Amino acid sequence: MEQIQITVGTSSLEEETVLEVKDLCVTRSGKLVLEDINLEIKSGEFVGLVGPNGSGKSSLMLSILGILKAQKGTVRIYGSPPMSRNQIGKIGWVSQAAANLKKEIRITVEELVKLGTLNAKNMFFRSRKEQNLAVENAIKMVGMEEHKHTDVSKLSGGQKQRAVIARALASNADFILLDEPLVGIERNASNSLLKLLDNLCHHEGNTILIVSHDLAAIRQTAHRMSFLEQGIWFDGSSDEFPDLNQLAHLRGIRHVHGHGNYKEEEE
Ligand SMILES: Nc1ncnc2c1ncn2[C@@H]1O[C@H](COP(=O)(O)OP(=O)(O)OP(=O)(O)O)[C@@H](O)[C@H]1O
Ligand SMILES: [Mg+2]
Repeated sequence: MEQIQITVGTSSLEEETVLEVKDLCVTRSGKLVLEDINLEIKSGEFVGLVGPNGSGKSSLMLSILGILKAQKGTVRIYGSPPMSRNQIGKIGWVSQAAANLKKEIRITVEELVKLGTLNAKNMFFRSRKEQNLAVENAIKMVGMEEHKHTDVSKLSGGQKQRAVIARALASNADFILLDEPLVGIERNASNSLLKLLDNLCHHEGNTILIVSHDLAAIRQTAHRMSFLEQGIWFDGSSDEFPDLNQLAHLRGIRHVHGHGNYKEEEE
């Protein structure tokens, strides 16, 4: 078996390790869906996780969050296993489902973002004034000031995603994980969402791990990309991401195909 490994240069040795996945194997319904995954993410990195349908991207996210248990191997976030006390409020989770809030729920953007400030740590240590400030800042960061009092059900897909990201930011999350946040969002909105994430990384010091099918968009934005198909077959700078032929070759080496509708460009 062959794997391309390119080490992405890190500017400083002191950079904090946010995520460390070591030799991770995960089975679902008796089937091995993640095999020997090794992935390390440093503070301030913007990593795009790509791969065909059913390749294990969401499973890896769920393992990182501690929802799926490892058969073998370990996951460490800020040096501790998932769901440890030191991670309360530090991890923001944005899924496509998160933005698909039920139509019957009447909630404004501001109220939704405020929900992000309600976690065990914040409730004990934050004053109401601090909470309100965190909400204000988060709404500003995602550029949704004008829609603060708008009912979430009235927002476009892209705006809903921004609101959900603001909710994660209001919780003070440093490490933001997003699973397919671009699905159903038109190209302009998806570009500006990626730009927002890039800004969060560069100016606010957030660490981002994003799953997406939109290879072209991710390649333009993420600094680093990982190609996952049960195992990780490429991990390196986005500039060095293999083209479709090379990818097919990588996948061919493993003799595991038959599924996936992987597209380089989305219409
Ligand atoms: N709840 C589940 N129970 C059992 N197996 C599952 C479950 N969810 C997913 N799987 C299987 O795990 C494997 C990985 O699925 P996963 O959802 O992680 O892939 P994915 O890369 O996120 O795919 P997609 O791009 O379609 O979202 C697939 O073979 C899938 O059939
Ligand atoms: Mg998925």
